[in-house]
Amino acid sequence: MIIPVKKAEDYLNWAEKLNPGPWVDHSKVAARAAAIIADRGGLDPDRAYALGLVHDLGRYKGVTSMMHVYDGYSVLIKDGYSEAAQICITHSFPTQNFEEYSGRDDCTEEIRKEIKTILAKAVYTDYDRLIQLCDALALPAGVCLMEKRLVDVALRHGANALMIGKWKKMFSIFGYFQEKTGGNLYELFPEAVRNTFAG
Ligand SMILES: [Fe+2]
Repeated sequence: MIIPVKKAEDYLNWAEKLNPGPWVDHSKVAARAAAIIADRGGLDPDRAYALGLVHDLGRYKGVTSMMHVYDGYSVLIKDGYSEAAQICITHSFPTQNFEEYSGRDDCTEEIRKEIKTILAKAVYTDYDRLIQLCDALALPAGVCLMEKRLVDVALRHGANALMIGKWKKMFSIFGYFQEKTGGNLYELFPEAVRNTFAG
């Protein structure tokens, strides 16, 4: 079942009440970016927007690391939103490899196994890719240069041996959507200059 925009907004409002923080604005920026790119690239902007809103839904539980992908997945799969649930997991794994996660692995052995199985079975669609991209473009204040956000995440969460491969994948996803939209993606986001060079 595809998640409607209204439902996604309700989920995000619920999650914000439980754990307010910059992650909420980050989710809204990712959603807006996803809708704009979807619109230019022949995808459904409402579907992309709703998926962007809920991709970090697992943050409702508080400050967690890898568990946030599973906590969001659990809520949405229980309610029948399988695509949105899958994206809660896949947005953090562009190369579809469990080991690429650069933050702390705070999952139990059982959950770790389940995430690995979900990743192994997942067939990534343009919507998985679009949310991976928009997650990597979205600061809470707005879209910025992807390189800035990738470095920002690495500085906060650390790096591992797979990081360069993950970054290369992100650049190829960027190129894919740039081609799909037929122009310079950053021209769709005038705030990117300010957000990239501020502070
Ligand atoms: Fe995110």
